[in-house]
Amino acid sequence: MSFNAVEIIGAKRDGQVLSSDAITWMLNTYNTGGVAEEQMSALLMAVFFNGLNPEELNTWTDVMINSGERLSLSGLSRPTVDKHSTGGVGDKISLILAPLVAACGAAVPQLSGRGLGHTGGTLDKLEAIPGWRAFLSNDEVRDQLETIGAVICAAGQGMAPIDRKLYSLRDVTSTVESIPLIASSIMSKKIAEGTEALVLDVKVGRGAFMKDLDRARKLAETMVDIGTQHGVKTVAQLTNMNVPLGIAAGNALEVIESVEVLRGGGPQDVRELTIALAQIMLELVSISADPAAMLDNGTAYETYRQMISAQGGDPDYEFPRAAKIETYESPSSGIVNRLDALGVGIVAWRLGAGRARKEDAVSAAAGVRVLVREGDRVEKGQPLLELHADDDAHMQSGRDALTSSILINDEEPDQTPLLIDQVRK
Ligand code: URA
Repeated sequence: MSFNAVEIIGAKRDGQVLSSDAITWMLNTYNTGGVAEEQMSALLMAVFFNGLNPEELNTWTDVMINSGERLSLSGLSRPTVDKHSTGGVGDKISLILAPLVAACGAAVPQLSGRGLGHTGGTLDKLEAIPGWRAFLSNDEVRDQLETIGAVICAAGQGMAPIDRKLYSLRDVTSTVESIPLIASSIMSKKIAEGTEALVLDVKVGRGAFMKDLDRARKLAETMVDIGTQHGVKTVAQLTNMNVPLGIAAGNALEVIESVEVLRGGGPQDVRELTIALAQIMLELVSISADPAAMLDNGTAYETYRQMISAQGGDPDYEFPRAAKIETYESPSSGIVNRLDALGVGIVAWRLGAGRARKEDAVSAAAGVRVLVREGDRVEKGQPLLELHADDDAHMQSGRDALTSSILINDEEPDQTPLLIDQVRK
């Protein structure tokens, strides 16, 4: 059967259901250069407005998975389980969770990405450790999963290559925020990675992709459906991203905080979320272990040390302090009514912790430490945030963004719980 890109675009524009063959032809032909960028842009916009039904979405995801290599993790002596977060400010959970769940007996293949905009990326954080290697061969990934149980590394270029092309196109055509396009993008990579089970941390709120709960729930349900249909046991946890997670937002600052949690301390919210996600992961692979005890007795920290050393990093590396450190002080006395995750993320990004374009470098030392929590009573002049930057220009740029990060008044804040709800099949 022969297809025509213009007819496929027109059909989706008019709200029709696309056949499996039409979707397969369109995506594969785009991948090999036979469908033009402007045609695929038009189809993405039509999908943005008219969506994909479950059958269309399954085909769309399958074509993306089959466009590249699939990691084979069968034959490992441990069950495999992974976590994916939709991204937030101060979200360093992967750094703690992967070694923690490995210490409990599972294998955690955390194929991760870099940060873009105000949300940080796991690889950027670990690359703050000199010598640590993000790029591993498939054999190295397997070996490390067998011996240590945890790997955090860059997803190979060969995995779901159509997603890479589509993601760049979505970025420049304002079609990122579409539930079927986000769900197929995330799940195609996770399914190609070969994990048996998956926990999705779907962030909701001011600092998240999904600002409102209904859309976040719909995204979670869509991803759980795709995972389940592809034989991956998948559960989604909806979590609050109105406020930053923990105290630190910035690469080295987040590694330091992660190590505190791995040693049984650290901020309560980071510990609580890590343990909650670990419990779901362990349940999905039928391992009975107590993750809280593994943090408190040093076992998870020991696995972290092995994981960092295996990839060329020194787990005892002492991060240098940033060249410039300043505090931002409260302009008045009152209650911290709003600590805005997006606002804090933008300050950290402007200080040098994040990148505006994919090819930009990030600073290891730059970032923010949040010294108060929502609901705290503060006095005029009390330090609220600690700003870290490499030079005066970045410090000034971060300072210029401060006003939207924190609001002091006389009103008690809205208290959304950290763990909002779970989505399961
Ligand atoms: N992360 C992805 O991998 N894809 C998206 O579409 C959004 C977030």
